[in-house]
Amino acid sequence: MKKVLFVVAIFSMLSSYSVQAGTGEDMFNALGCAGCHGVGGKSSISTYPSLAGKDADWLVQQLKDFQTGTRQDPTMNAMAPMTAGFEQAIADYLSSQ
Ligand code: HEC
Repeated sequence: MKKVLFVVAIFSMLSSYSVQAGTGEDMFNALGCAGCHGVGGKSSISTYPSLAGKDADWLVQQLKDFQTGTRQDPTMNAMAPMTAGFEQAIADYLSSQ
C-alpha cells in the first residue's frame, strides 16, 4: 500500500511538473526573458521590444531566425537557442498578452 501511494505521489509530481514546464508563460519567466522584455512581454524599456500581442507566427520566426543567425543580435542570438522546442508555446503565450 505504501509503495502504491509513493508511486502515485511521484507520478502526480512529475505530471504537474511537465505541465508547468510546457507552458509558454513558465518558459518565458524561467528562461529570464521577462527580465528584459517585461512581465507578460510588456516592456517599459525602449531598448527591449515589447512582445505582448504580437503575431505568434511572426514571433516563432524571429526566435528561429535568431537561432540560425539569419537575424543578428548578440543578446538574442545567445537567448533564442534556449527556446528550442518551446518557440510556439512561448509565442502563443505572448500573442495572447
Ligand atoms: C538581456 C536582455 C534580453 C533577454 C534576457 C531576452 N531578450 Fe529578446 N530581445 C532583446 C533585445 C535587445 C532585442 C532587440 C534585438 C534587435 O534589435 O534586433 C530582443 C528581441 C527579441 C524578439 C524580437 C522582437 C522584435 O520586436 O523584433 C523576440 C521575439 C525576443 N526578443 C524574444 C525573447 C525571448 C523568448 C527571450 C527568452 C528566451 C528573450 N527574448 C530574452 C533583449 C533580451
